[in-house]
This record gives sequence, C-alpha cells and structure tokens, in this order.
Amino acid sequence: MSKLTRWDSKDESKRLPIYQTKASLIQAVKDSTFLVVIGETGSGKTTQLPQYLFQAGFCKDGKIGITQPRRVAAITVAQRVAEEMQCTLGRQVGYQVRFDDCTSQGTVVKYMTDGCLLREILADPVLSQYSVIVLDEVHERSLNTDIVLGLLKKNFSNPAQATKGRSFPLKVVVMSATMETEKLSAFLDNCCIFSIPGKMFPVTCTFGSAIGPKDTESTTYVKEIVKTTLDVHTSEMAGDILVFLTGQSEIESACDLLFKKAESVDYRYDVHDQTVEGLLILPFYGSMPTDQQRQIFQPPPAGIRKCVVATNIAATSLTINGIKYIIDSGFVKQLNHNSRVGMDILEVVPISKNEAQQRAGRAGRTSAGKCFRIYNKEFWEHCMPEYTVPEIQRTRLTAVVLTLKCLGVHDVIRFPYLDCPEERFILEALKQLYQFDAIDRRGRVTRLGELMVEFPLYPGLTRAVLKATSLGCQDLLLPVAAMLSVENIFIRPGDPDKQKEADEKHRALSTKSGGMNDFATLLTVFQSCKSSDRPSAWCKDNWVHWRALKLAFSVETQLREILLRLQRKDFPIETFDGNKSELLRWCLCAGYFTNVARRSVGKVFCTMDGNGCIVNIHPSSLLSEQKAELDWIIFHDVIVTSRVYIRTLCPIHYEWVKDLLPKLHEVNVYELSSVAREEVTDEEMIKWEKRKAAKRQPEVCNEDAM
Ligand code: CDP
Ligand code: MG
Repeated sequence: MSKLTRWDSKDESKRLPIYQTKASLIQAVKDSTFLVVIGETGSGKTTQLPQYLFQAGFCKDGKIGITQPRRVAAITVAQRVAEEMQCTLGRQVGYQVRFDDCTSQGTVVKYMTDGCLLREILADPVLSQYSVIVLDEVHERSLNTDIVLGLLKKNFSNPAQATKGRSFPLKVVVMSATMETEKLSAFLDNCCIFSIPGKMFPVTCTFGSAIGPKDTESTTYVKEIVKTTLDVHTSEMAGDILVFLTGQSEIESACDLLFKKAESVDYRYDVHDQTVEGLLILPFYGSMPTDQQRQIFQPPPAGIRKCVVATNIAATSLTINGIKYIIDSGFVKQLNHNSRVGMDILEVVPISKNEAQQRAGRAGRTSAGKCFRIYNKEFWEHCMPEYTVPEIQRTRLTAVVLTLKCLGVHDVIRFPYLDCPEERFILEALKQLYQFDAIDRRGRVTRLGELMVEFPLYPGLTRAVLKATSLGCQDLLLPVAAMLSVENIFIRPGDPDKQKEADEKHRALSTKSGGMNDFATLLTVFQSCKSSDRPSAWCKDNWVHWRALKLAFSVETQLREILLRLQRKDFPIETFDGNKSELLRWCLCAGYFTNVARRSVGKVFCTMDGNGCIVNIHPSSLLSEQKAELDWIIFHDVIVTSRVYIRTLCPIHYEWVKDLLPKLHEVNVYELSSVAREEVTDEEMIKWEKRKAAKRQPEVCNEDAM
C-alpha cells in the first residue's frame, strides 16, 4: 500500500475524472451483482477502477479480471497499471492474451482479452478464482465480449445465482464509453448505471474534397492523409496530431511518405506557429513491438509536434494525451463474413458516423480541438452507416457456437444475446461444425468437437492438427499451425531492388521445401530458422520477420502442450501410405476440405463448397507463377479486392478429398434450424431421414450465393 501512496503523490491519476467518484464507485460495486459504468474515453475507467477495487479489498477472496477486446490494449494497460502500482508486470498485475500469459500465482489484477476469459469460462463456468469481472470496452461489441456478457447474465442473473457453485458472490462490472447504457442495464436485470462525469471540449469538424464515394483505393486515401497531415502541421498552432488509418501496411507507407515530405519543411518560413520546430512521426498498430508502443504515450520533446498514425485502436481502447488535431481517413479494416466466398475476410470499409464522432472526440479531451475529415459530405451521407454493426452480426460463429455447445448451451438460437445474430449465421456455424464432425446430426458435441474446442485456432486448422496427431506426424503440422497463427512472416520491402532480393530468397525457401506448397514453405522457414545457430541473423538474411518467428516458436510449444495434455486421453491411431510431402498435404485436407478449389478455365480456380466462387492465386503466394501446372488445390485464406484472391495454398490429389467433399452438401439448413434450437428427438430424426431420402439433391449449395 505504501507504494501506491507514493504513486498517488505524483498526482497524475488524481486528475482523472474518475477520481472524483472513487468512493461512490466502490460502494456501487459493493451494492450490486451487475453494474454498468459509463464514462468518456480517457476518464480513467480501464486503468483506475481495478486499482480502486484492489485498494478496497476486493482481492481478498479472488482476482479482479478485466477484459479487453484487443490484445495490445490488454498488454499496454497492464504495463501501465503495473507501473502505477509499482510492481513488476506479471506479479501482482499481469495480463493474458492468446499465446502470451504474463501472470503468476500472485496475480490479483489480471488484464486479458475477452477470448481468454471465454476459455476460462470453458474450464470453470462459475469463475471461482475471481471476485470481480470487469468487461471493458463493451461499446466495441466484439464477438467474444457479447458472448461472455450473455454467459454472465445466464449464470449469475439473480442474487441467489451470484454465489452458485462458489463460496462468495461474483461481481460483474460492465464498462462502456458510448453505448446505449439503458439497453445494457435492461439486459443485466435492470442494474444500476454509474456515470463518470466528464468534460468534453468542442471539436470543430471539417470535410475534405478529395475523397468521395468512389475513392476507395488505399493509395488514394493514403496520399490524401499525408497531404492533410502536412497541411495541419504547417498551418495549425502547436498540439499533437492523431491520424486514423486502416492497417499496418497503409500506416507504414503513410509514415514513409510523411517522413520524406516533412524533411523538406523549412521551419523558418513554412510553419505558421513559430514554436513548432519539428515533427515526430509514430506509427501505431496492433502487431507493433511493445517497446515502440510505449513511445506513443510519452510527451514529445519541447518544440516537437507528435503525430501518431494509428488504426482504430486509438479511438477508444487507448488514450493518447495531448492530441489536439484528428485526421480521419473514414475507413477501417474490419473482419466481415463475405457470402460471395463463404468465408470471413478482413476488408477495408467506411466507418460509421457514430465511429467518426468517436474519432473526432479524441481531439477534445483537454482543450478545444479540430478534426479534419479527408472525405467529402457525399461520402458521409451515402457511404457511412449510422452505427457499426456488432461483430456477432457480421462474422462466422463456428468457434463460438462450439464453445457454447461445450458449455452445455444447446439452444444456441435462444441464448441471451444482447443483439441476436441472424439465424443464418448460426446455421452456417452449425453446418460447418457438422462438416468438421465436431457435432453430430442431433447437434451434440462429438469426441472430436471436445478436443477441437481446446485449441485456440481456426477449427479447420485444429482438425488438421488432430488428424496429424492420429498419424503420429504432429511435428509437421504444429509448426504450420503456429506459423499460420502469427502475421507477416515474410518481409516485403518497399524499395524495388530490395524487393527483388527478398523475392529471390523467398523463392529459394519455397524450392527448398519441394516447391509448389506454401504450407510446406512455412514449415521450412520454421525448421530452418529454429535449427540455425543464429536465428535472428538467419531471418535477416532471408527477409523474414524475426519477431513473428519468435512468436511462432512460442505458439508451437503451447500447441504442443495442449496436445500432450489431450493425448493422455484416448486418441485414435491411423496410418497413411505416402511420402512426407503427401502426408502433410493429406493432413491439411482433413481441415481444409471446405476450402478446396479446382482449376477452371485459364488461370482461375473455382471453389467446391457450393458457392462455386471464382478465385485467383494472390501474387504473394509462392505458387502464383506456376498456375498452369495446378489442378486441385486447398487454400488457407482469401483476400477480396476487385477480384477474389486466395493466399497460402498447396496442390492436392482429388482422391484425398473425394470422400470429404460430399459432406459439404450432406446436411441442409432446415435440419440444422431444429438442431440449433434444442436437442433433437428420435421422432424428428426419423422424419428428417425420410425427407432426406425423398430429396436426393443437396439444398445448401447455393444458400449463400448472392
Ligand atoms: O478507460 P478510459 O478510456 O476511461 O481511460 P484509461 O485508459 O484508464 O486512461 C486514463 C489515462 O491513462 C489517460 O490519460 C491515458 O492517456 C493514460 N494512459 C497512459 O498514459 N498509458 C497507458 N498505457 C494507458 C493509459
Ligand atoms: Mg478504457
């Protein structure tokens, strides 16, 4: 405690709006099972509330768990709070995100992603180790937060239930920056709403003229962002700039361009405010190294204007102090279910008007600010929806439905959702789970499904790993699964000469792995780097990201641990007659038979899942130059621009998927709609079988084709 007082004496946290309400906030948590807390971004909810609860003795019986939809936020905030509480990160204060657990026995304030909490609920539905669960950033409406919210409501909905299966009651605090709190409170037994009074200063917003409804090319808006940022830097008074862009590559190219342009600014003549003497450009995105992220929060040196070029992460998850100017691209990178290809894909879409207001608001925290929108009024009116659609209504629910089923929630349609997903999304999820043999025709979780839910991976990939384990060749699949779980393995330099060199190195790695197989190339990269004496130097030589590889090594170890734990249970044993390359691809087919494509006319392929989508090989695939020789292929992911591209693929033999492909058409959505509602009776089962026998033709093939 004395350490805390030392921090408090610094006075910083006392200046946050939440400090004024400290005593009543603690009391409100004491008085209720559920509590909704609303307060502007930056008011101190995420960093302070858990500390208040800690000081008030809430950790006597159990831990305080705080969820974040984004992993970077969980890590950064935990670091900050550990500093404030003057303890080593991982001791009293820690974090857990997928594949990275920085907690210990003594951790009592634990920041984690909502996905991690969902996994904990799976292992211990009453969360017996926790005294308080704080669901943070609920307004973001991430899929996992929505599901956890439903589960907490279901399990702890009245005072008697709050202690069910536990020795002391659980407290649930739900925090939001913007969302309709009435709706949240109504959802949680009409619980109290605690508002943190905040003061916002006015922000003047202006629209640009360059970006209209047709200007969706990234090069166009990146150029406009750079131009506007430089204009603001030279013509506006001192104050930091926050730029909202879409993703890592756009942010990096914008920063490069900005850096070049900023070098030619003559500070004697070009800048309006003579106290401004330089520009400090800082990129900020999720997969950035943590030490670089720290810089974002530090005040710039005197006379220097800080300019942070960020993804949406800076909209509400993390607050940067000192921002006076916002430059808004109007776009965001979002995971959406694409019915044309029948998969979830990351795509760049216009933000909602509501989101645009949030972004603008970042400029008005400590004084009046300005927001420069690079898009025009027409774009605002015709392209931007009023509100962002919650993730649960726009992404594939396969993994979540499996988790719910494993938790004994059979009726996945009548589960208490804050906003119901469309029934067809639930049915799609059930269809895929059935195709993967994770559930049976009656909607019950199978043995394989129980194993699958243990892995924090895409279910298809898990299925491939489990297949490999049955064949005793998990050493081939685990590294591939790990490599597919980390982003950006290959470096793609902007400079054309260097790009040529990188391409050659990457091609050599592909050849080394037998060629023509992107998955095998990933395995080769993993193994070659791991067996090298100087792995980081090996990466540099081969134009491979060392940080991503390091993470892949750790992910592989963790997947291996999960497998070891499961292998103690009975595990089927199978055999396969073929060489190593065939073995790898055969195992992959077990999980990727939903992503099979066959060469169509010319150089394009056609998917086999009933959508019959025309796809092209992405230029970044090492197979893109050898299209002519390929016939049947499986692929890992899809990118949609003006065309549909597949990336990370390998050729297969038709015989390997011949028996699996019919499964894609075997079950129809009408059957599943009953399965979704409840466990199915024998009588109904017989009815289906009869109906099915009457209709030979598959019905689901074109369900999604629009
Ligand atoms: O959660 P909420 O948006 O209400 O506020 P918060 O994240 O707790 O932020 C409170 C203050 O801590 C803000 O002034 C942030 O800028 C600051 N903070 C920081 O300096 N470094 C971090 N890693 C996180 C927060
Ligand atoms: Mg927060």
